Amino acid sequence: MIHLLESRLQNELNQRQATGLLRTLEVLESCKTNLTSNDYFQLRSHPEVIKGAKTALEHYGASSSASPLLSGFLPCHENLIEKLRTWKQKSAGLLFNTGFMANQALLTHLPGHRDLILADRLIHHSIAQALGKHATRFKRYHHLDLDHLEELLDQNSKSFETIFVVTESVFSMDGDYPDLSHLATLKQKYNFVWILDEAHGTGVFGPTGGGLAEEQGVLSEVDILVGTLGKALASMGAYVLTNSQTVIDYLVNFSGELIYSTYLGPPQVGAAEAALKIIQKSQATARSIRNMANRFREQLESEGWKTHSFDSQIVPVIVGDPKDALELRNKLLEHGILAGAVRPPTVPQNSSRLRFSFHAGVAEDKVEAIIKLLNKWKQRKK
Ligand SMILES: Cc1ncc(COP(=O)(O)O)c(C=O)c1O
Repeated sequence: MIHLLESRLQNELNQRQATGLLRTLEVLESCKTNLTSNDYFQLRSHPEVIKGAKTALEHYGASSSASPLLSGFLPCHENLIEKLRTWKQKSAGLLFNTGFMANQALLTHLPGHRDLILADRLIHHSIAQALGKHATRFKRYHHLDLDHLEELLDQNSKSFETIFVVTESVFSMDGDYPDLSHLATLKQKYNFVWILDEAHGTGVFGPTGGGLAEEQGVLSEVDILVGTLGKALASMGAYVLTNSQTVIDYLVNFSGELIYSTYLGPPQVGAAEAALKIIQKSQATARSIRNMANRFREQLESEGWKTHSFDSQIVPVIVGDPKDALELRNKLLEHGILAGAVRPPTVPQNSSRLRFSFHAGVAEDKVEAIIKLLNKWKQRKK
């Protein structure tokens, strides 16, 4: 029996290998400059963050040891939710074990069969995977194209009970972002439920690091905010924040992602809480991270590379062919520089890229050095 299964699985793996799309796990200890990390403020080894994790570890132990509905919901979880709520100005909230689980929970359990989900075409897989699996209809609008979104709202707003509009703030693979003020205006006109994933906006955007919604002054318009603890907050886990206690009560009752999983470990919670304190006072660092990414992006553009024109810490360098993306990534790695080779199905066909995620640990002279290596590779390909 296992032979038939293996033969089918191996065929699919072979196809991936042949097209340069095979994924493998690697332990990468030797790279000096890691530009795949989302630890934007380099806090995972910060003494205060380690102390936060240790204090929670010593106080509560290494594990929460149960579902949050049994005894896994501890004072440290409650405390962190309160800090996050205050930060992002929402009255209710919940922690999930990962951002993936939080998004799955929201998109699986909140929309009903009389509802419609409108999602950005390039939305993160943690959201996309829930679309089409349930009774709720969904449509995709062109990436960042709020005119297209408005067209869809116009066509559909009378035919559905509730419309959900879902987008990331700073897109994880592209580093670009929608005009959230425009989205807020559309919300006033069409009265949809707005879900915003601030995984990559948190920390790096906004006057207190509250995210792109804070930066653009629309936090109060967002109905449901999602963010992860595993990126700028240097830990692991995620949060959902909203002004609707009913939404939270519903998730506590119906979300299997929450109910049937051992809750987030205390050390992760302690680390995130300590990182949160630091991030709220780190806006000068956030600005310099974005400035460095902008310099990199502008220079790439002037040298003829394909990228985007947004002020953000994530810079994609689009090369198109997946094998080229891998080759280029390996070339940089020979020089101790690690960038993510991102290929389909994570990104659309012909848009394979290197993804550079700038953070506080990148030395200033690296921008020039990386561009030199990229150009050298391009010259040789000609
Ligand atoms: C936009 C976005 N949402 C959600 C997630 C999932 O978060 P987590 O890593 O906590 O599962 C990610 C992680 O890559 C992400 O980029």
